[in-house]
Amino acid sequence: MTQPPPPDRADAAYPSGMPSPDWVALQRAAIEVRDTAYAPYSGFPVGVAGLVDDGRVVVGCNVENASYGVGLCAECGMVSALVAGGGGRLVAVSCVGPEGDTLMPCGRCRQLLWEHGGPDCLVATSTGPRPMSELLPDAFGPANLGR
Ligand code: THU
Repeated sequence: MTQPPPPDRADAAYPSGMPSPDWVALQRAAIEVRDTAYAPYSGFPVGVAGLVDDGRVVVGCNVENASYGVGLCAECGMVSALVAGGGGRLVAVSCVGPEGDTLMPCGRCRQLLWEHGGPDCLVATSTGPRPMSELLPDAFGPANLGR
């Protein structure tokens, strides 16, 4: 449950006018939703919480399937909740694994976070919050499609 303080550069990437994210509260929300995960096949429950630019917090957990490849990562659920709840931009994300410790989003989920948070979205890591621009460098994204 320990979270190192954010490095200065992470604060620099954070949108101006927004209060600093409460990383401890985000991690708690991720742990809470992790407890609802449906992960009978991997035994690896994951929870994720994201702070939206309007102040709301959206959450998701992994949902596996007997047809293994159909399983959904926690971030998929969180992004669905974001869009279904009216949209908005993710500004800070905390993802946790079975022990409640920080978990790095998988490659596919980094692409999801890029779409809905962009390069400045901060992600909790074991060394402190880091912007998506570091976690998915040279990303393909909406700009490549003229959006
Ligand atoms: N998992 C996530 O939910 N998010 C990630 O970013 C990494 C992996 C899930 C997928 C699967 O249900 C379980 O963790 C084991 O891979």
